Amino acid sequence: MKLIYPLTIGSVTLPNNLVLAPMAGITDSPFRVLCLQGGAGLVCAEMVSAHALHYGNAKSGRMLQVSPKEHPVSMQIFGADEQTIQEAARQAELAGADIIDLNAGCPVKKINKAGAGCVLMKDEAKLARLLTAAVKSVKIPVTLKTRIALNHKEFLGARLAKLAEDCGAAAVTLHARAAVDMHSGKPNVEALAAACAAVKIPVIGNGGVTDAGRAQEFLEAGCAGVMIGRGAVGNPFIFQDIIDTFDGRTPQSRSPQKRLEIYLRLVEENVSYYGEHIGINRSRKTAGYWINGFPNAATVRGEFVRLDTLPKVRALLLQAQKML
Ligand SMILES: Cc1cc2nc3c(=O)[nH]c(=O)nc-3n(C[C@H](O)[C@H](O)[C@H](O)COP(=O)(O)O)c2cc1C
Repeated sequence: MKLIYPLTIGSVTLPNNLVLAPMAGITDSPFRVLCLQGGAGLVCAEMVSAHALHYGNAKSGRMLQVSPKEHPVSMQIFGADEQTIQEAARQAELAGADIIDLNAGCPVKKINKAGAGCVLMKDEAKLARLLTAAVKSVKIPVTLKTRIALNHKEFLGARLAKLAEDCGAAAVTLHARAAVDMHSGKPNVEALAAACAAVKIPVIGNGGVTDAGRAQEFLEAGCAGVMIGRGAVGNPFIFQDIIDTFDGRTPQSRSPQKRLEIYLRLVEENVSYYGEHIGINRSRKTAGYWINGFPNAATVRGEFVRLDTLPKVRALLLQAQKML
């Protein structure tokens, strides 16, 4: 069974079926470019509020920007009413997105209070209206990202996958954990398999993939693709590592020194994209992932918090590298 292959989502064919998950505060343009270099077949942008776009929020508008270096890219929108979802989908298409994704899986209270994210799993009629509105408003493929369940009592993955298919979505991503579990716990592969069996559109499995073994489980359960979130933060080459493992090649092991080098490159990209202040702030948030397991991790993190210029961060990371 061939596990890695070019995956077709509507009119878009990806070079492979490994996808970077949307992660707010993380999967911005510089990180998406890095993950494409690391072998991802598709990269997803952090979720953008349709409501904020409607009111011309500049920060949200900027989140839709697509660099020519980052295709294929999927732009994720979230919202609670058809009109703003349609507008947001059109804006994302105009901005250069290859795919639009609708978020119906986010368990964050603030999002849910506004009627968006995983609460849509409880109101299938509304979810269908929003998804249909998005599908009808753009020429590019629209996908849905949701979960296998809200709680441990009832699995909804197969029904929601069918709903997505019936509304014209070109693929569905299922996070294989219940919304009550937020982002932790073992993914439920059986629930993914049930959803895969229920539809013809590609089902992309997500949740807890940090190596080729778990990716293989998802693909053998019937998933057409695998989406990776935190496993790619601090290791954007995980996609290529998985492809190499399936092809029988030893994944290029990346030394801690190399990881710091890649991280420094990302910090530099962030600074040139956002300016020094915001670029360093954003980089700091993921530092823990990059230096996880390093003997001097706590010291480096502690120092990083106090630094506010690129030359100082560069000096810290180069010094940390020497101490390894
Ligand atoms: C910091 C963070 C931010 C996230 N932001 C989003 C988001 O904007 N949209 C979304 O659909 N999911 C979001 N997620 C969920 C991820 O896309 C993914 O479903 C989840 O992390 C499980 O995958 P993983 O176990 O591979 O990390 C986020 C997760 C994390 C940890």
